[in-house]
Amino acid sequence: MASQDELKKQVGYKAVDDYVKSGMVVGLGTGSTAYFAVERVGQKLKSGELKDIIAIPTSIRTKEQAASLGIPLTTLDTHSKLDVAIDGADSVDPALNLVKGGGGALFREKIVEMAAEKFIVIVDESKLCSGLGPHFPLPIEVLPFCVQHTMRCLEALPAMQGAKAVLRMGSSENNKSDGDEIAISDNGCYLVDMHFTSDIQDPVALAEQIVKTVGVVEHGLFTEMTTAVIIAGKEGISEKLA
Ligand code: 5RP
Repeated sequence: MASQDELKKQVGYKAVDDYVKSGMVVGLGTGSTAYFAVERVGQKLKSGELKDIIAIPTSIRTKEQAASLGIPLTTLDTHSKLDVAIDGADSVDPALNLVKGGGGALFREKIVEMAAEKFIVIVDESKLCSGLGPHFPLPIEVLPFCVQHTMRCLEALPAMQGAKAVLRMGSSENNKSDGDEIAISDNGCYLVDMHFTSDIQDPVALAEQIVKTVGVVEHGLFTEMTTAVIIAGKEGISEKLA
């Protein structure tokens, strides 16, 4: 049976093989699944199968990986439209809404992926859920100033359904709070993980309430953004289109 890493590699490679063509501006996601998509872009550029690709990374570590593979890089300031972006996710619901940000890169991921004509999500089947929320805590990036106050404001939002706010500790590269120091995002901000005990009833309404909360930089609800999800599972690879 394929290991979880092997499944991640399969979907990462397939996304690049199916959706990335020469001449494109490509958004490169963050995390252990997106890692393989970045690897594949690097391989295909080196072999000459892909030409004239320019990429926008969604985190410092993806930028470093892409640079180490010789992938030409740009920013949204220079290219504000992308042909395609490829990234992993922490949860995927039946409507292909996502929770992202387990790796702490949600702000850069969202700004890049919203600018892409196609947003391709790559996951193994453990990321599929019937409703967002209990499956994986919802990350929210916040300014450090008066973070406890911002956390109380978030907990009090009507659409938050009583979810508890936990300030992320440890390295933001980990998908859990496991250190003694507050995790710091690539943008110098904190990450708050909202723990739900029931499915989020209305992700769109919740997203609207979160962005109106002063102190919030961005949140990990990615609603109505997905073009396709490529899923690796025991039965092989499948694809769901939005
Ligand atoms: C990083 C993310 C990642 O895409 C998400 O956490 C999934 O990561 P992985 O592929 O390692 O499970 O949103 O901020």
